[in-house]
Amino acid sequence: MDFLMKGRTAIITGGVQGIGFEAAKELANEGVNLILADRNEEAGERALRALSALTSVIFVPTDLTKQESIDTLVTIATKRFKEIHYFVNSAAILDDKSFEDSSFDDWQRMLDVCLLGPMRCLHAILPLMKSQSYGRIVCFSSDSARVGQAKLAYYAAAKAGVTALVKSIAQEVGPHGITANIVSPGATNTPMRMEREASLREQMGPEKYAKRLLTVQKMYPLRRIGEPSDIAGMVTFLLSDRASWITGQVISINGGFTMV
Ligand SMILES: NC(=O)c1ccc[n+]([C@@H]2O[C@H](COP(=O)([O-])OP(=O)(O)OC[C@H]3O[C@@H](n4cnc5c(N)ncnc54)[C@H](O)[C@@H]3O)[C@@H](O)[C@H]2O)c1
Repeated sequence: MDFLMKGRTAIITGGVQGIGFEAAKELANEGVNLILADRNEEAGERALRALSALTSVIFVPTDLTKQESIDTLVTIATKRFKEIHYFVNSAAILDDKSFEDSSFDDWQRMLDVCLLGPMRCLHAILPLMKSQSYGRIVCFSSDSARVGQAKLAYYAAAKAGVTALVKSIAQEVGPHGITANIVSPGATNTPMRMEREASLREQMGPEKYAKRLLTVQKMYPLRRIGEPSDIAGMVTFLLSDRASWITGQVISINGGFTMV
């Protein structure tokens, strides 16, 4: 299927690793110009090397917790590519802590990155998209926000906020030719998940951990954990004009983990 995206431009936060990088790779193969925005400069340089043979791509070191960093990102992006057609927010952090053990600082740090981060970005980018009378937005939520998940309470709360934010924005900007949707993955093998799994393995020991992994896999009707490539295709589709009448929707990609 030709997605007719060649020559368009995307900003992808968190586009240097995990799901964001896989989405960037797919878009690069479609001929989309890329601005990768992330606070991890080492991963940024690595991603740049991997993608620059495929498309025009720049990496802009960006911290989603700082409005001036996001404003600089948008200035650099528009100076280089003029129009920004697509915005993808993949950047996030994760904490594996029971709510009882968590502190106000933990909640604040989580909300600052995972909810205020995309809020700051969208506030900076939407005027541009409105002036173009065109834009496509995809933000990541999580199935933990749809059904709840022990030890992820404040992460899930931030992600539920993203869903509410994007749906509301979709209503405001629809008349300007802008769509905004949410992709909600189940457990996916990325650096974010692998880090959490490594610490669980250390806490539980290899035997208990292996049993736990089997139990987790059984919770998925398709009997496996996801890969970034399972998710990236949906990002491409939602950004493309094949999805031009889809807005304000939450699309779970999760091997059947939740069916809501
Ligand atoms: N992997 C999963 O199992 C899973 C499940 C559900 C939802 N998600 C969501 O999917 C998206 C992608 O997840 P992933 O697993 O690929 O994550 P990841 O940890 O592999 O990548 C996230 C990126 O965000 C960046 N980042 C973190 N804080 C930042 C900040 N303040 N400013 C700029 N960049 C920052 C990190 O440097 C990293 O490159 C996230 O929004 C995540 O919440 C992932």
